[in-house]
Formats: sequence, structure tokens, C-alpha cells
Amino acid sequence: MLEGKTIGVIGYGNQGRAQALNLRDSNFRVIVGCPPDAYRERAMEDGLDTFGVHEAAEKADIILLLIPDEVQPVVYHESIASGLREGEALGFASGYNICFKLIEPPSNVDTFMVAPRMIGSAVRSRYLSGRGFPCLVAVGQDATGQAQRTTLAIARAIGGTKAGAFASSFEEEVIIDLFAEQFLWAGIGKLCRLFFETLVAAGCTPETVATEMYLSGEMVEVAKAMREEGFFKQLDLHSQTSQYGQLTRADRVLGQGAEERARQVLEAIRNGDFAREWAREQTQGKPTLSRLKGEALEHPLNEIERKLSWSTEDE
Ligand code: NAI
Repeated sequence: MLEGKTIGVIGYGNQGRAQALNLRDSNFRVIVGCPPDAYRERAMEDGLDTFGVHEAAEKADIILLLIPDEVQPVVYHESIASGLREGEALGFASGYNICFKLIEPPSNVDTFMVAPRMIGSAVRSRYLSGRGFPCLVAVGQDATGQAQRTTLAIARAIGGTKAGAFASSFEEEVIIDLFAEQFLWAGIGKLCRLFFETLVAAGCTPETVATEMYLSGEMVEVAKAMREEGFFKQLDLHSQTSQYGQLTRADRVLGQGAEERARQVLEAIRNGDFAREWAREQTQGKPTLSRLKGEALEHPLNEIERKLSWSTEDE
């Protein structure tokens, strides 16, 4: 499906660089589209044919839009839409802008998603080592009747079929991705802060609490064991006192109302409330994001990290 086609990778950051190099090493013709910035220089240093975004989109038969989700709509409308011709294909690594209708490509082009479940640097290193990585694939529009084949060909060429390409949809990718960020990661972050603040208020040494919490690396080892031995089976690696404490106290920590709150967070993702809130935040210059990030970087944990100047280099 990709023979003789020009694949235009728009963006040369986390995903753009990894996917462009993987496609090139799979022997396909790749060009990169970037504004004149440090990313573009890197693409040139890597020996790729590099153009402005509009020029690359004009030249390409298959476009992979690999720039941050929040700038995609403007870049698409200003520099890509006019270069799309009938029968071409537009690919995404996330479902966000199609799902929330911030980008609505013409009906005569294919649209598809190949969303690696992997950070960009590992998309590259796992391609080089031959391990590959899992990814979610979906067709949005099938104008040519060949969109599914193009999607799988791109997934395969970047190393995304070796560990399994899961049939998904733009909507499912967005819901799972945002819910992981807004429920799982948000919850873990809040619990960790509470853990630290409660123990320090009770007189425990901040350095020891931070070490218990994440600096020792035990948390990473438990996460590894969850993956390797099983989410629940790894409980056997902990003492029985620990197992009893974990299993009996979970509902006290996240009991009453937790299911309802989970549903509310999910509902705001599904009905577009979160996307609209985030769009408003961006037009206002991201004041809430700046304030909350500023507060997080003032948290006492930052000072403890500086004091302990821990290193993971030997691990
Ligand atoms: P990134 O932040 O690394 O993208 C940087 C690139 O975007 C640079 O080439 C820069 O020149 C370009 N860029 C930034 N602002 C621009 C603008 N206003 N106009 C034109 N170009 C601009 O992006 P990343 O993290 O690679 O994300 C790309 C896509 O991949 C997104 O859809 C994201 O959701 C998805 N994704 C990202 C993953 C990751 O590892 N970060 C994992 C899976 C999917």
C-alpha cells in the first residue's frame, strides 16, 4: 500500500521523529514538514528531506499529523487542508481532534489513526531492537475503499504490529487516554500528595516519607511486578500484614461516591465538556494550567528532591 507513495510526516518531535525514521528504515519515501525551528534542524541533521508544513502536505500522498493535539486544528486549517487531494490519506496518532470535530477533513480523503501506546523515544528504540510496541488502529473515513490496508501498512512500517495492533476507534482512544490522565494519574497524584502531607503533619521526616513514596524506586518495582506477575498475583510479594492492610483499607480510601465521581469525570470527556473547557483555557493563555503547575513546583517535595539529589543512573 505504501510503495511509490510519499509519506509526509508533519512534526518532528516525540512521535514525528520516531515514526519518520522507522518509516525511512522500512524503506518508504518519507518527507518531513516543520516550521523553521530546532525540530526541523534535527530532521535535516538526520538526513531527511524537510519542507515547510504546507509544502510537505502538498507533496505527500499520505500525511501523518504528528504535532501536539492543541495546535493541530489551526495548522490543519492554515497549512494542510488546501493541499489535500482526492484519494489521499490523513493519519493521526491520537483521536482527539477528529473525535471532538475540531478537524473535519473532506469526505474524499481517507482518515485513519495509528496510535502507539508508547512514548516516541521507545517507538524508535523498540523498532531498532525488533521488539515493536502495541498500538490502537482505526479508520475514520474510507473514501478509497483501501483505508484499512493503508492504516495497517503504516502501523506495520513503524513497528506497531509486532506487539499487536488493536482494532479501536478515534472515540475509544480518546476516552481511554483522557480517562487514564484525568482519573488514574490524577488520582495517584492526589493520593501521593495526601500521603506525604498527612505523614509530615503527623511528625514524620519529609525525606523518609518521600523515599517511601517514590524515591526508593519501590513503586516502580511494584508496577513492574503487576505487569510481569499479574495485577493481583503480585500481592504475594508483600507481607501478609501488607496484603491484609491493602485489601481491607482500599474502600475506606476511595469508597463512598468514588464510582459516581469516576462516572462524572468520564461523562465530561464523552460529552465534550472537558474539550470545550480546555479550548477556552487555551484561548485565555492557559492561566489555570500555569497556576497549578506553578503551585506543584513550589510543593515541598521539590526541595526534598534537591536536597537528596537522588540518582537513578546506576539502576
Ligand atoms: P511534540 O510536542 O513532540 O511535537 C513537536 C513538533 O510539533 C515539532 O516538530 C514542532 O515543530 C511541531 N509544532 C509545534 N507547534 C507547532 C505549530 N504551531 N505549527 C506547526 N508545527 C508545530 O508532539 P508529540 O508528543 O509527538 O505528539 C504528536 C501526536 O502524537 C499527538 O497527536 C499526540 O497525542 C500523539 N501521541 C504522542 C505520544 C508521545 O509519545 N508524546 C504517544 C502517543 C501519541
